[in-house]
Amino acid sequence: MEWKTKVTELLGIKLPIIQGGLAYLAYAELAAAVSEAGGLGQITAMSLESPDALRTEIRKVKAMTDKPFGVNFAIGQHGRPYAHMVEATLEEGVQVMSVTGGNPAPFFAQLENTSVKKLVLVAAKRQAQKAESLGADAVMVVGQEGGGHLGRDDIGTMVLVPQVVDAVSIPVIASGGIGDGRGWMAAHALGAEGIEMGTRFIATQECVHASQAYKEALLASSETDTTVIKRSLGAPARALTGRWTETILGMEAENADYEALKNFISGEANRRFIHDGDVDTGFGWAGQVAGLIEDVPTVSVLFERMVMEAEIIRNKWNFNG
Ligand SMILES: Cc1cc2nc3c(=O)[nH]c(=O)nc-3n(C[C@H](O)[C@H](O)[C@H](O)COP(=O)(O)O)c2cc1C
Repeated sequence: MEWKTKVTELLGIKLPIIQGGLAYLAYAELAAAVSEAGGLGQITAMSLESPDALRTEIRKVKAMTDKPFGVNFAIGQHGRPYAHMVEATLEEGVQVMSVTGGNPAPFFAQLENTSVKKLVLVAAKRQAQKAESLGADAVMVVGQEGGGHLGRDDIGTMVLVPQVVDAVSIPVIASGGIGDGRGWMAAHALGAEGIEMGTRFIATQECVHASQAYKEALLASSETDTTVIKRSLGAPARALTGRWTETILGMEAENADYEALKNFISGEANRRFIHDGDVDTGFGWAGQVAGLIEDVPTVSVLFERMVMEAEIIRNKWNFNG
């Protein structure tokens, strides 16, 4: 079966499946595995210390696959400057870049007069419209089920995706809560031209930077084992529930400000769990789809399985249609 969509055409990939940016997890091994298996892998630029470290990572991917891949930029409110990282990515000839967490205008300005495909991860209809008006080639739209940073309006993927499909004319990529062929086909039924997954890719063999404890926690979690933290800071984000997230929630309930919270929600606290496996002094982002994750396959086995599930659904639709 063919899986040609506007997104596979735009990005030059075989399957319309994108690996979302994954802070401190999406390095060369995972990005290359996703691209090699037919999707679009991405390196998460801002997890790397310098433009040179990013260049090294990009070259590692190129040594592992000749397929297209992307570089993701989370440019949040408290993020560090990123222009020199974009410059390095351009110089290395990467053909796809994605951005989230802030105004894409200055980011796009750097990509003017290049052939780089520009993707924007948004969490609301108005953000999708803005991304389109600024020149995005496609938008990823993440619903409330998703792992990591979310929209402030608590809208689930099932409602958000068709709304955005109706509001923009560029291709829409559905994100949040997708972990198998059923979710993938549901996204297409909503009008999406592809999907982005985050949490599902953490529980793969090639996500080599994720600690065993993190992977095991994903396997053990049900759909109710995630918590939204940072809501009081106007930046809600979904993580696996644990002692550390409970502490954060307690502080937020008592109106702690950013200064008081920053060491609890920092990249260091994140890495203590996701790299070092210390569940009591750190946290890990994850979406509700954790409740559907039962194993840690290779990316290629995951994709084979998703294609099989999707083919069953497509055949059923044809048969009944
Ligand atoms: C551990 C983790 C880290 C993330 N880091 C980033 C990031 O750096 N940049 C980004 O654009 N999105 C990031 N996201 C969001 C994902 O790319 C994706 O939109 C989200 O995971 C989709 O929901 P799902 O987890 O239900 O698949 C992160 C998500 C997770 C789970």
